[in-house]
Amino acid sequence: NNHVVIMAGGIGSRFWPMSSPEMPKQFIDVLGCGRTLIQLTVDRFKDVCLPENIWVVTSAKYAEIVKEQLPEVPVDHILLEPCRRNTAPCIAYVSWKIKARNPKANIVVTPSDHVVMNVREFARVVTSAMKFTADSDAIVTLGMKANRPETGYGYIEADLSMACPSNKEIYRVDAFREKPDLATAERYLQRNNYFWNAGIFVWNVNTIVNAIRVYQPAMARVFERLLPYYYTDKEQEMVDELFPTCENISVDYAVMEKADEIYVFPASFGWSDLGTWGSLHENSKRDAHNNVCIGLNIKMYESRNCIVHTTQEKKVVVQGLDGYIVAEKDNTLLVCRLTEEQRIKDFSAE
Ligand code: GDD
Ligand code: MG
Repeated sequence: NNHVVIMAGGIGSRFWPMSSPEMPKQFIDVLGCGRTLIQLTVDRFKDVCLPENIWVVTSAKYAEIVKEQLPEVPVDHILLEPCRRNTAPCIAYVSWKIKARNPKANIVVTPSDHVVMNVREFARVVTSAMKFTADSDAIVTLGMKANRPETGYGYIEADLSMACPSNKEIYRVDAFREKPDLATAERYLQRNNYFWNAGIFVWNVNTIVNAIRVYQPAMARVFERLLPYYYTDKEQEMVDELFPTCENISVDYAVMEKADEIYVFPASFGWSDLGTWGSLHENSKRDAHNNVCIGLNIKMYESRNCIVHTTQEKKVVVQGLDGYIVAEKDNTLLVCRLTEEQRIKDFSAE
């Protein structure tokens, strides 16, 4: 009864120009390993649930890309959003839909653009968390050990004084804090009971539907209205009409910061959110000068701490750079200091 929900509607704006609204990073072979990030995501759940229990929620404009890249996912499990409303409406849509047919379903929700090194440990952790939520009304988050004051993540404050009786690896959460400012993140980093939220959630379908009813009643009403149309040939039409009325809000702000019954499973499986060029640099094989070169014909001279990415057989020569991103795609070339990478999403919009 285990279901996997893959959220794949983001646009990866900090990864421009490799990632663009036409072809976001989850559909790209970012690591150069022959599988795209969303394909790697599906691969890592193969011991957690059957392929027929995988769901993908994405933007309508990526429907064909998803079908092509994930032939094992049933076509009617690819849910299409008419517009971007962030992760809370995405999760609500699929949760009401799963519940309509399967009121006892147990669900793991995952981003589509992360990297996990130790897939076996990952599957063990997720399976163990799912056993826990099968017969409890818990929201379980996966907590990652923080090693820098990252402001792009959510932070989980765990009560490490007492593990749960039914699963000694799981703890109660005192507070969930989405994307703190730098000073706050630095304070959290000093403490050993704060974890990064991996953005992976485990719950049974009733828990999440009830939480949305309590904390986001207006959003819940939208999906109650849609319920009679689910699994009919009017579903898409009605979703196209009503989904845009949902508030644009992430599940972290909409539910996690507000809910009480939250738990954390501190885990370590070589996790990384490939959110930015810097995180790709950190997670890739670096040469003796700490450079990462992804591309067919790149030459580096007297350069260090750089990431260079090309998409075509273009010859790229870099001399004398330290700490830069050099990335080209189609008719775009980006040269940007790694320390300024958070600004890339603004550059891409200009
Ligand atoms: N279907 C759909 N619709 N998916 C979406 C949408 C949407 O409107 N917006 C984002 N997604 C998908 C993205 O493609 C990604 O796979 C996932 O949802 C998470 O969205 P991000 O936009 O990448 O979130 P984030 O990285 O800023 O923050 C989240 O993840 C962090 C860890 O990576 C939060 O959960 C943080 O608390 C967490 O630390
Ligand atoms: Mg992310």
